[in-house]
Amino acid sequence: MSDPSIYPVPAEWAAKAKINAERYDQMYGHALADPGSFWLDQAKRLDWIKRPEIAGDWSFNEQDFHINWFADGKLNVSANCIDRHLKERGDQIAILWEPDSPDEAPRSYTYKQLHAEVCRFANVLKAAGAKKGDRITVYLPMIPEAAFALLACARIGAIHSVVFGGFSPEALAGRITDCDSNIVITADEGRRGGKRVPLKANVDAAAKHVRCLDAVIVVKATGGDVAMQEGRDIWLHEAAAAVPADCPAEPIGAEDPLFLLYTSGSTGKPKGVLHSTGGYLLWVSLTHELVFDYRPGQIYWCAADIGWVTGHSYIVYGPLANGATTLMYEGLPNWPTPSRIWEVVDRHQVEILYTAPTALRALMKEGDEFVTKTSRKSLKLLGTVGEPINPEAWRWYHEVVGEGRCPIVDTWWQTETGGTLISPLPGATALKPGSATKPMFGVDPQIVDGEGVVQDGAVEGNLVIARSWPGQMRTVWGDHDRFFQTYFSTFPGKYFTGDGARRDDDGYYWITGRVDDVINVSGHRMGTAEVESALVLHAKVAEAAVVGYPHDIKGQGIYAYVTLNANCAASEELRSELRQWVRTEIGPIATPDAIQFAPGLPKTRSGKIMRRILRKIAEGDVSPAALGDTSTLADPAVVEDLVANRVG
Ligand code: WT7
Repeated sequence: MSDPSIYPVPAEWAAKAKINAERYDQMYGHALADPGSFWLDQAKRLDWIKRPEIAGDWSFNEQDFHINWFADGKLNVSANCIDRHLKERGDQIAILWEPDSPDEAPRSYTYKQLHAEVCRFANVLKAAGAKKGDRITVYLPMIPEAAFALLACARIGAIHSVVFGGFSPEALAGRITDCDSNIVITADEGRRGGKRVPLKANVDAAAKHVRCLDAVIVVKATGGDVAMQEGRDIWLHEAAAAVPADCPAEPIGAEDPLFLLYTSGSTGKPKGVLHSTGGYLLWVSLTHELVFDYRPGQIYWCAADIGWVTGHSYIVYGPLANGATTLMYEGLPNWPTPSRIWEVVDRHQVEILYTAPTALRALMKEGDEFVTKTSRKSLKLLGTVGEPINPEAWRWYHEVVGEGRCPIVDTWWQTETGGTLISPLPGATALKPGSATKPMFGVDPQIVDGEGVVQDGAVEGNLVIARSWPGQMRTVWGDHDRFFQTYFSTFPGKYFTGDGARRDDDGYYWITGRVDDVINVSGHRMGTAEVESALVLHAKVAEAAVVGYPHDIKGQGIYAYVTLNANCAASEELRSELRQWVRTEIGPIATPDAIQFAPGLPKTRSGKIMRRILRKIAEGDVSPAALGDTSTLADPAVVEDLVANRVG
């Protein structure tokens, strides 16, 4: 154990954590050997209106493809996250809210208060015509009402579809239309880092492209001036005052949908990932408790945005199902100063902090003083999510932030997986910086080669999951065939993650990144095809190809090759115009970091763009060995031009 790249489980954690190494092995073995009894037993952690008698019933094969968990059970997610805690901890804080600016006072809601807020909100939704199964779009900043909105939908069985507040009106309109959502919940404005985001105005702009919209419920967040459309727009505070503070929780089938969330894939438009009610809640509750070794009373902070799955699973549903105190932060980790995140930790005595490597890299760059001048004595456990963490950032998090005292859980998962699939458990798993380590109970990861042949031992290849787990997505909204084709056809009979991974001699998993045309920019997933479609919508653009390239802070940056229409000249102005264009079409997170004007793109004789070559050039690796065989190109000369005019 003197290997400096291995951090053994601290003795105190091994002794007092909920799961130690021996228990992990025993439970992991049980879940695979007898999933039925394991999962029916785990199901007892939820409050069921009708307790299920069957656990998993699934097949990943094309002939009888189906995924069901606890299908005969009935429950309500909002009752599990609120009502069942009222007796024991009604006066405990459920949601602790830290505003954008440190000069403003935090707000908090006990479980009792949360109950009243969510019930009123649910009654407002009902009054606006919402019913079980309806899709309700949520386009909100990081304010407590965002959590209330999700739980209110869950209470009446409506399916929420949260759209990140940083997405453009165009992107919002596409998501509203795709799922035929007739109600949008938004706020007058959002705030982040002292800036205002015109959310209601964005909804109004999106509404021009949407036919299905009946009602817009508006939260008064900043008091900013907004236009209200008679007969369509409703102020939440006015409507909430007119409805009762109690709303019965609707009994919902375990396999009925809880939410959908749009995410980028390697082709086409973002797809609506649909999650179930029972299996999902069980998964996020189990993983939140065990991965963070959560104990009631602890202040827990997941510094994600509710617009991403991390916010759904580990700000709202997992923690509240476990009766936790979950901190919600409206602002940015580095505003007004790079100490902000650590000051919030001190202000609220946060014990568990869960954030993304990109935030850590950005803060690390600012120097240690911003960290060391704060106390951070309350911290006990640290977590990361969203992208591979480089060992340098891991060590900084461990040594500087956690002063060597806090284990780090590097949690690997995806929008599609609902919650964490591969992660250390702090009392059970020795840590290796950069490795997500070992699978959760019931998760059966495999590494396969390009042909799908399972590889044993220490090896690198494609990461697949060989069995279903309760938190798995159930379909792509409106396109079940796309669900099957995207995830189960590449390696038949298995769920394909789209990630590459290496397994070492100790059976630890190291995620190497996406192997498809999805890039990970600051922990946010972006389909290269989406950025390309946005670029070619511009009148001057004939063709575009987008690839990822290594970026110090963001992990990956967006590199776009753009071919202009005849008679259109390349210029710096056009470059900025195109960057702005993509921001407007999709949102700031999709803004290309580099745009290279290219007279031609490298294509095979059959017209297929050779992305391998474009990736190498973007990475700056232009040796003949890196570029490989270019003889199959229709016009090998384009490569010379691309190399000569590389940007950055
Ligand atoms: C992709 C999923 C997980 C919720 C937030 C992102 C990458 C995620 C890790 C990690 C290495 C990671 C993968 C994955 N990823 N966590 N701990 N180590 N890579 O969800 O937007 O659906 O993105 O993020 O590439 O496929 P997402």
